[in-house]
Amino acid sequence: MDSRYPSLKVGVLGAGTVGSQVIRMLTEQSDDFAARSGARMEVARVLVRNVDARRDAPIDPALLTTSPDEAITGMDIVVELIGGIEPARTLVLRALNDGISVVTGNKALLAAHGPELYAAAAESGADLYYEAAVAGAVPVVYGLRESLAGDRITKVMGIVNGTTNFILGAMNSQGMTYEDALKKAQDLGFAEADPSADVDGLDAAAKCSILASLAFHTRVGIEDVAVEGITSITAEDMSEAAYFHRTIKLLAIAERRIGEDGREGVSMRVHPTLVPLDHPLAAVDEAFNAILVEGEAAGRLMFYGQGAGGAPTASAVLSDLVAAAHHRAYGGHAPRESVYAHLPILDPGTAKTRYQIRMQVEDRLGVLSDVAGIFARHGVSIQSVHQRDDKEPGACVIIATTHLAREADLRAVVNALGQSDAVREVTSAIRVEGE
Ligand code: HSE
Repeated sequence: MDSRYPSLKVGVLGAGTVGSQVIRMLTEQSDDFAARSGARMEVARVLVRNVDARRDAPIDPALLTTSPDEAITGMDIVVELIGGIEPARTLVLRALNDGISVVTGNKALLAAHGPELYAAAAESGADLYYEAAVAGAVPVVYGLRESLAGDRITKVMGIVNGTTNFILGAMNSQGMTYEDALKKAQDLGFAEADPSADVDGLDAAAKCSILASLAFHTRVGIEDVAVEGITSITAEDMSEAAYFHRTIKLLAIAERRIGEDGREGVSMRVHPTLVPLDHPLAAVDEAFNAILVEGEAAGRLMFYGQGAGGAPTASAVLSDLVAAAHHRAYGGHAPRESVYAHLPILDPGTAKTRYQIRMQVEDRLGVLSDVAGIFARHGVSIQSVHQRDDKEPGACVIIATTHLAREADLRAVVNALGQSDAVREVTSAIRVEGE
């Protein structure tokens, strides 16, 4: 044992794709991590459900245990990679209450119970780190919390879910249907057998709430995020987007803006979005993540990289481990929850956005005027209209793109169009950003 460095015991909860890579890298690069943190981290126990399961990287069987008590009691740092709410919440709280620092990659847990975990860490003096919870290897948590602590952030907008980006990318580049692209993502191991958290936008919403809390120094939960997933996006939506030199991305958008009562607040939304092909987020392919951050002083920054996968996510966990180990050995602590701004959460209906609405209408005299009247009656200004013949006899297709308008008014337009005699069907209504 190298006596230059104090020795620290690390308990790892979960030895799946990420956990087994964390253990491998911590073991293989032990000397480097000791030199960087000033402490020798030793994996002392690994909590698993089944000691005989096959692992992505080999783990000394003597370390494996099915007892949470053995994996937590007496540790200096606990790494939580179980995922989900329970038992992760109980185990993380137990560690924090015992003064054990925690590194977690669990976005669902943070988005639902962040304040409780932060309070427990502050009370006992333990660290709570979670770089791996958002965008895998991409250091956006550190970037917002520390690198940009000298700035006033106005907007965070990005692709924070690799699975949906892969699906939309396959629809875009190969003309696949949503169902075929999802199947391809599952065959290649990107999407889970139950992909609902990804495709319904909930994974992105959890990450959006974590980023918004950091950016705006305000407590934000997943319930504060207006969410729409990608399940209704069709191959036709994608080819239509390409016709107009755009593509469709699932974006998480958190912004600081003035509410209708004149007070500043924050709003968060996750939805499929048309972005122009020359926008930086349009070029983010496959399962990559990218987050644009706008600071008043710094201007626009982009964080880009691998948002999932064993080794990339392990990289984020290990950077947190280095910081937590240093504090453990020499004092100091991780930044605490910063909620001093206490900004109100704005009603999503008051967000200003733009829609592109595609509809099949009756091909008759005055139809365009009927459609335009509906927009006008709801105070929504049209930026452009495109009309073409439809395959169905007696029908044509109108694609209208609006100027910025209140989300609630845009929804009212879509509802009114759906009920109008002039319109056979509203086939899609997708928000537009970045132009
Ligand atoms: N399901 C997530 C994604 C994994 O597809 O991005 C990383 O959180």
